[in-house]
Amino acid sequence: MLLEAAVYRELFGSIMLHEVQRVLKLDTETEFVKSHLIQNIDRDKIYETLGQLAIVVPMKDEKLQLIDGVLKAIPHKCPIIIVSGSQKEGTNRYKLEVELVKHFYHLTQSRVIMIHQRDTALAEEFRKAGYNAILDEQGLVRRGKGEGMIVGMLIAKAIGARYVGFVDADNYIPGAVNEYVKDYAAGILMSSSDYVMVRLSWRHKPKVSGQSLYFRKWGRVSEITNRYMNLLIGARTGFETNIIVTGNAGEHAMSLKLADVMEFSTGYSIEPYQLVYLIENFGGESAAEKMKHVYDTGIEIFQIETLNPHIHEEKGDEHIREMILMSLATIYHSSVSTDNIKQRIIKELKNYNALGDGEEPPKPRVMPPIGKIDARKWFDGVRSRSDSLLYLAP
Ligand code: GDD
Repeated sequence: MLLEAAVYRELFGSIMLHEVQRVLKLDTETEFVKSHLIQNIDRDKIYETLGQLAIVVPMKDEKLQLIDGVLKAIPHKCPIIIVSGSQKEGTNRYKLEVELVKHFYHLTQSRVIMIHQRDTALAEEFRKAGYNAILDEQGLVRRGKGEGMIVGMLIAKAIGARYVGFVDADNYIPGAVNEYVKDYAAGILMSSSDYVMVRLSWRHKPKVSGQSLYFRKWGRVSEITNRYMNLLIGARTGFETNIIVTGNAGEHAMSLKLADVMEFSTGYSIEPYQLVYLIENFGGESAAEKMKHVYDTGIEIFQIETLNPHIHEEKGDEHIREMILMSLATIYHSSVSTDNIKQRIIKELKNYNALGDGEEPPKPRVMPPIGKIDARKWFDGVRSRSDSLLYLAP
C-alpha cells in the first residue's frame, strides 16, 4: 500500500501524534518507491498483520443486508467478533443475526465469535473479575456501543489477538470495510511502538441531496469534535494546532497492549474520550511514574484518510445532537480543558439545542482499564455458561 508519509507530527509527553496520511494506492507489490514523502507498506506484511488483528463489529438492530456485506468484506485472516445489543423481545432480531452469521460461516469458514451484550454470563464474569463499572442497575452489561466494544476487546485478548480493530455494522459499501481493515494493518506497521492506535478519516461522507449524491468532506459531529479536540491539545502544549481530524473515529484499531492501559467511556463518547484520556495521562509528565514502561516506550497515533467514501445508515438529528453532546462533554470535563474552551463548548451545544440555559454537559461515565482482567479465565467462564454465544471456527 502506498500512503503519504506523515511529515508533520505533534510530540508531547510520550505521545507521537501523526498528521493525516492519505492512501495513494491500495494494493502494491513491494518494490522500492523512491521518495521520502511516500510510505510503502509491504503487501505480505499487511497480510501477516491481518492474522494478528481481530475485528470487532458492534451492532444493534441494523439491517441484515448491511451486516451481511460487512462480514463478507472483512479479510479472511481476521477473526471476527460480533457483539450485539439487538432486540430479542418482539421480533427477535438477535436470532435473525445468528441465522445470518451461521449461514455466512457455512459458506466461508471464517472464524466468528458472536455474543449478545446482555447475556447474563458476561455480567457474571465481569462481576467475578471485579469489573462492575460496566454493569447497569439490573446487573447486566450496560447498553451502549462503548460497552459492546469493551466486551469485544476482551474476547480479542482471550483468543490471543495482538491488535483489535472496529468496524460498524451499518456500512453500505463492503469494499470500504475491506479497505479500512487493511488501513489498520498499514498503520500498525508504520509504528515503531507496541502502543499504537490507528484512526481513520473519510475522503468523503456522501449525502443524498435532491436527486444526487453530494460528496461532503466532513460529517457534522466530526467537524465540531475535531475543532475542540485541537483546542484541547493546544491547551496542553501551548501551541494551537489543527492536527486532529479523527476525533470521533468509529473506525479505528489499536494494539491490545495499549487497550490494556486505556480507560474507556460509555456509548458514543468512547472514541473522543480515548484521545482525551491519552492527552491527559500521557501528554505530559504525569504518567512518567505511574506507567513508566508505557511512558518510556511512547504511544503512536496514526490518522489515515481512506480512499473509499463512507456511506452508512443515517440515524437522524436527535442522534447527531446526542453524539455532539457526548463528544464535547469528554473535552469539557477534561482536566486539561480551560475556562475559554468550556465557555465555547457551552455556546456550541446551545446552538445545537443540545443544552439548555444554565446547564453543563454531563460528566462522561468512565470505566477503568481492562488490563487487570485475566481475559482467558473471563472468557472460559463466559463460554461455560453463556446462552447466546456462537463460536464458529473451522
Ligand atoms: N453492541 C452494540 N451495543 N452495538 C451498538 C450499540 C449498542 O448499544 N449502539 C450502536 N451500536 C452499533 C451500531 O449498530 C453500529 O454498528 C455501530 O455501533 C455504530 O453505531 P451508529 O449508531 O451507527 O453510529 P453512527 O454511525 O452515528 O456513528 C459512528 O461513527 C461515528 C463517527 O465516526 C459510530 O461509530 C460513532 O461511535 C463514531 O463516533
